[in-house]
Amino acid sequence: DSNPKKRQISLLVAAPRGFCAGVDRAIKIVELAIEKYGAPVYVRHEIVHNRYVVDQLREKGAIFVEELDQVPDGVPVVFSAHGVPKAVPHKAEERGLEYLDATCPLVSKVHRQAERQVEAGRHIIFVGHANHPEVIGTFGQVEEGRMTLVETLDDVEALDPADPDQLAFLTQTTLSVDDTRAIVEGLQERFPGIVGPKGEDICYATSNRQEAVKQIASASELVLVIGAPNSSNSLRLVEVAEREGATSYLIQRADEIDTSWFDGVNTLGLTAGASAPEVLVLEVKDYLKQFFDITEEKVRTADERMVFKLPRGLEAA
Ligand code: F3S
Repeated sequence: DSNPKKRQISLLVAAPRGFCAGVDRAIKIVELAIEKYGAPVYVRHEIVHNRYVVDQLREKGAIFVEELDQVPDGVPVVFSAHGVPKAVPHKAEERGLEYLDATCPLVSKVHRQAERQVEAGRHIIFVGHANHPEVIGTFGQVEEGRMTLVETLDDVEALDPADPDQLAFLTQTTLSVDDTRAIVEGLQERFPGIVGPKGEDICYATSNRQEAVKQIASASELVLVIGAPNSSNSLRLVEVAEREGATSYLIQRADEIDTSWFDGVNTLGLTAGASAPEVLVLEVKDYLKQFFDITEEKVRTADERMVFKLPRGLEAA
């Protein structure tokens, strides 16, 4: 490390980063299901959006499929942390399949709110990203036509609800805190009677990781975010870092790093999305140490102690 030929780079590591309580719980559910029922255990959709995690679970005996039709009779199936439309557990019940729901409790909370608002006769405006599994799952909690997706302020302007006095809003849990605030304000301005959560439904892990990356990005020329290209909360971390004026790249593994990125970089920020395991952070640090003399500093903006209970029947396994 004291190799004089290596250039010195200060590394700011964000905290909190990486696994949230919902991801931790979802992975444990698959592991415990394999222990309890024996391999294979089927998992509908990537349990969390991370290739490394998925590969590790596959090695332990998990089989990942996109739809329930691909699950043979008589084997247990786990639903991913992002949540599923109601039709999925219904179909599983019809087929007599044993299923375990790894939906993050904070996503389930939004599902229940959606049901309640529709029961109260309100139409829901949902702030989220089209085609994300969480959005598909939340839309699938209510009858078709009871929820409208908005992604931008322009979408808010274009809304034309049948009854503007009977509206509620809900949000995806992994959105940009700053963008969502603007969209919610836009909704409240256009529809003063709209009801919704205090603020939004963005989860503690998403907002804490954004706050932490903001801190390190304002002091860095480059920020690396470890996460998958289909991970919503990871993509938001890249955006937040860029808005703070840093260049930012999303990487899945150390081997995607291009050392030319570090030309002119004296301070480098590093963080990881909520579905990225800490081993990948260590891998990236080790990789960097091959080329640079790294002085590391941890920048902590919040303490997290959240732990979610496992589903009944699995705690004992
Ligand atoms: Fe849940 Fe938020 Fe993680 S919704 S799965 S705690 S990113």
